[in-house]
Amino acid sequence: MSECSSHPSNATGAHATHANNMPITRATFDEVMVPNYAPASFIPVRGKGSRVWDQTGREYIDFAGGIAVSSVGHAHDSVVAALVSQAQKLWHVANVMTNEPTLALARALVEKTFAERVFFCNSGAEANEAALKLARKWASDKFPSPNATHGETEKFEIVSCLNSFHGRTLFTVSVGGQPKYTQGFAPLPGGIKHVPYNDIEAMRAAVSDKTCCVIIEPIQGEGGVTPATKDFLHAVRELCDQHHALLIFDEVQSGAGRTGSLFAYMNCCAVPDILTSAKGLGGGFPIGAMLTTAAIAQHLGVGSHGTTYGGNPLACAVSLAVLDIISAPETLANVHARHDQFFAGLNEIGHKYNIFKEVRGQGLLIGCELADKWQGRAKDFVKASEKQSLMILMAGPNVIRLAPSLLITEADVAQGLEYFEAAVAELVAIESAAAIAAPAVKLAVVQPDPQASVRATV
Ligand SMILES: Cc1ncc(COP(=O)(O)O)c(C=O)c1O
Repeated sequence: MSECSSHPSNATGAHATHANNMPITRATFDEVMVPNYAPASFIPVRGKGSRVWDQTGREYIDFAGGIAVSSVGHAHDSVVAALVSQAQKLWHVANVMTNEPTLALARALVEKTFAERVFFCNSGAEANEAALKLARKWASDKFPSPNATHGETEKFEIVSCLNSFHGRTLFTVSVGGQPKYTQGFAPLPGGIKHVPYNDIEAMRAAVSDKTCCVIIEPIQGEGGVTPATKDFLHAVRELCDQHHALLIFDEVQSGAGRTGSLFAYMNCCAVPDILTSAKGLGGGFPIGAMLTTAAIAQHLGVGSHGTTYGGNPLACAVSLAVLDIISAPETLANVHARHDQFFAGLNEIGHKYNIFKEVRGQGLLIGCELADKWQGRAKDFVKASEKQSLMILMAGPNVIRLAPSLLITEADVAQGLEYFEAAVAELVAIESAAAIAAPAVKLAVVQPDPQASVRATV
């Protein structure tokens, strides 16, 4: 269960090639990929624990965790063993049959949570899509309009929070509370209301007997790593009960052990009707899950919803091995211990360089909101960290986000924080030099640091 954090690189320095013997480099991305991402300048080729090596053999510390996915680090021995073992047995049968890994994983999730029934899919967006469709279908079945002929109901409204993120399908992006992600994709699905996060009065005004569900992230991840208050979650639970609406917790990012409990709802005592999970549940193998009660699940009858790959034996075998690790008390204890270490270190760096307004989050989902002077510059910190051989994330332009492996060691956190401080010191020095040279000019481009690549190879 321990994380192998230091492993000599065996990268050869030779770049992979494709059939025509053309080298595969970062430039290849711009030549052959749809330009909806702007990946880092290096290409990782191997990982072990919380260390990653790129094509040149340079070693990085991973505080990004593949956006809160690599819950047990890279290439964990028992997860690799589960994958290899299943790969030699059965890869795929589709949903016309069931399979043993699917049922074993579903049983384990049912045993460890409020849920009685599970639906598997391949991503967080798909899990939310299933949850939202289930809520609509549940309302259509239970509260039909008086003259309904095709499942019409007045109880179709979905209440969501501003700044939330629920995925990139047209439905989930519309339910998400960030207009920048729906621009250009109209017409959008209707019947969706948005209220400010943690605003009980606004929620009270929005939820009515027309509401079929409220969907909430217990911690807004992509929207800036903002935890919900316990009062807010309790109030929403009460409102849902009062108006016979379903409460969906989107735990795609906050779940799978990330907060130090298997799911974040376990920290706040507000139990949802539907919970969605993905990301860390597969530790890097694509999987999504929707968990609910038997009474609610029965409204997704045969043929009402599905996906070819949902419950894929490889994904479920891997996820079962991951679940075993992330639900172990020693893993969850490590999440709490490393949280404290991160908070102490980040607050120290924040005070020393005066760069943060706030360090927040739960467990190993941590956000550092930039001080006013640094607003809009999160990307600069990501790039500066890369130069220091550290992988970090942003959550919007003003928040640095960390979501490392739940097994990350004390030593790796300490070393990664050293790298981070070096990145911060460099940015601050550049900023100060720019302010002296030309007060009105802001340097957005980070200059290369020759020392960083030297240090990265030792
Ligand atoms: C809270 C939350 N919900 C849903 C999603 C979408 O998950 P996926 O990218 O696997 O579709 C994400 C992804 O960041 C997320 O953070």
